[in-house]
Amino acid sequence: MTLLDVRNLNITLQTAMGEARAVRDLNITLKKGETLGIVGESGCGKSMTALALMGLLPENATTSGELLLSGEDLLEKSEKEMCTIRGNRMAMIFQEPMTSLNPVHTVGRQIMEPLRLHRGLSKKEAFEEAKRLLDRVGIPNPSERIRNHPHQLSGGQRQRVMIALALSCSPDILIADEPTTALDVTIQDQILELIQTLVDEEGMSLVLISHDLGVIAENTQKVMVMYGGTAVETGSTDRIFDELTHPYTQGLFAAMPKIGMGRNRRLTTIPGTVPDLINLPKGCTFTDRCPLASEKCGGAVPARSQMNESHTVMCHHLDKAIKARGGELYQ
Ligand SMILES: Nc1ncnc2c1ncn2[C@@H]1O[C@H](COP(=O)(O)OP(=O)(O)OP(=O)(O)O)[C@@H](O)[C@H]1O
Ligand SMILES: [Mg+2]
Repeated sequence: MTLLDVRNLNITLQTAMGEARAVRDLNITLKKGETLGIVGESGCGKSMTALALMGLLPENATTSGELLLSGEDLLEKSEKEMCTIRGNRMAMIFQEPMTSLNPVHTVGRQIMEPLRLHRGLSKKEAFEEAKRLLDRVGIPNPSERIRNHPHQLSGGQRQRVMIALALSCSPDILIADEPTTALDVTIQDQILELIQTLVDEEGMSLVLISHDLGVIAENTQKVMVMYGGTAVETGSTDRIFDELTHPYTQGLFAAMPKIGMGRNRRLTTIPGTVPDLINLPKGCTFTDRCPLASEKCGGAVPARSQMNESHTVMCHHLDKAIKARGGELYQ
């Protein structure tokens, strides 16, 4: 059954420079237990999408479209209703746990608070449950750690606390926005593994956001590649990695370090920068960086072509893009 159904989501931000079209015509479906990766460079609308799901968009944002959670449109909910939904159905973890944790309270107090508020536990029950959750996310010595303040923990442990906090509401959907970017590589793997285990064991759905295609490949069943605020390629992870099609996805792939590449080979990057969301180009937003671009690309937005039932690509030059899959577009 479809748990989350995002239909034609648009997010516009009012800024001093004008209206920024942060997200355009976005569609997402997520079943119970399914895992989705959102990937793309900085500024392409990944976090805005996540914040919209959580009802946490900045005040200068306006939205259109539908955000259906079990059939109910979240965009129509009041702040109070969204607060209940955040406490019971969806949870989000962020890149930098230190900014999301309160530095003046112990981690125990911070985990106990939602348990008391949303699950109605007594103080003693909440304390025991908080200890169990800390243990569940792999924090050694929970009885002692529960009395620590965030600054007494390492970055990896703080992220584990954030995950415990997220779990405290037994969410149907966990949204993880660059959850490991601020951490050392070995700790990154541990945290991703923890998220994987918890998602499996709790039967949660996962939306994992990363600028790193490798992280997405290893941790999700479906992928949405975002560029300039919209999904340029979507599909099952296996399929997309077998058949990287959009020139932008091919560029992201070329920019990934590969095993056996040798130390002296420089990583390829996609030349140019992401589009200005206030003055979006008229046609395909990737035109000025795309090795395959022609006149038609700048003139009209390409349609979403359905490659098969689980793979869509938004490109005017599908045939050429398919031919270029071997990797010659970026060298
Ligand atoms: N409060 C705001 N007001 C106006 N513009 C904003 C605001 N917050 C973000 N933006 C802009 O909205 C666009 C989309 O931002 P978003 O945070 O979704 O990108 P992202 O894909 O998450 O990037 P990153 O990988 O850097 O986290 C960016 O151009 C950003 O500059
Ligand atoms: Mg972001």
